[in-house]
Amino acid sequence: MDKLVSIWSKDQSLPENYIFPPENRPGKFVDVPPSDTIPVIDLSKTVDNRTDTIQQILQASKEFGFFQVINHGVSEKLINDNMSMFEELHGMSAEDKASLFSEYESKSCSWLFSSALIYDSEEIHCWRDNLKHPCYPLQESMQHWPQKPTRYREVVGKYSVEVNKLGSVILELICEGLGLESGYLGDYKLSGSALMSVNHYPPCPDPSLTLGLLKHCDPNLITILLQGDVSGLQVFKDGQWIAVHPLPSAFVVNLGLVLQIISNDKLRSVEHRAVTNSKKARTSAAIFITPTSDSILELAC
Ligand code: OGA
Ligand code: NI
Repeated sequence: MDKLVSIWSKDQSLPENYIFPPENRPGKFVDVPPSDTIPVIDLSKTVDNRTDTIQQILQASKEFGFFQVINHGVSEKLINDNMSMFEELHGMSAEDKASLFSEYESKSCSWLFSSALIYDSEEIHCWRDNLKHPCYPLQESMQHWPQKPTRYREVVGKYSVEVNKLGSVILELICEGLGLESGYLGDYKLSGSALMSVNHYPPCPDPSLTLGLLKHCDPNLITILLQGDVSGLQVFKDGQWIAVHPLPSAFVVNLGLVLQIISNDKLRSVEHRAVTNSKKARTSAAIFITPTSDSILELAC
């Protein structure tokens, strides 16, 4: 429990076991210039021009492995209510958080932990607290969710339903773009499970020396990320880090390794990381859409 960065970090300098070796530090690349290159796709245009939306998604998925979606049908109010709920959760008292704290390895179905998945065997930790729990199918998931804040289940429940629906819409568009039969990716096994992952990066005394999340590819089918209004997400493109700037009420979508494999490398899962911020806490929430554990993966195109 004392491992949670949010519990001990206030007014402290950066401990040595958070300082990454020079090759992994963001250094001067904490603040990379704003990039408007990661495509922003307006999903409301799908109705009139489905082919065009599909082309945009496929192009972005080939080139960046990332895109943002706007006018996606999830209401601004629901998004804001959720962001407040996630902030409230990570801002709870040490006592309340202690009741949720659980190492990732434990047998529980919901974890509140710090850094990456293997805290005890890491030499250097990431500047992040994280809550993970299943969020699809909802009926089998909700019993594992925090009961504090008191409205967490209600508010996050509605959000999970809407965002998982949006995930199916995007997967269907990708499916059509790849020339696969309708429903191939939305098949109940390939996208039959989803994990909610709520990141919290408290203000950090020296963002140039540490990271909120080390560079990685997501190991799932697709990820739908809400990143609030504080920047921090960076994508590795042509040997450089580029920032994904927060757009109000947009979702960041990125492709996971499973989709790269199924598409026989036509679409890409691209490395990304999260940098920290010296002034503001940053909260982001990813929904990882994931095949169920009994699905068999094969090349589809
Ligand atoms: C992740 C991730 C980025 C962020 O949770 O896999 O890449 O901005 N998060 O928090
Ligand atoms: Ni990721």
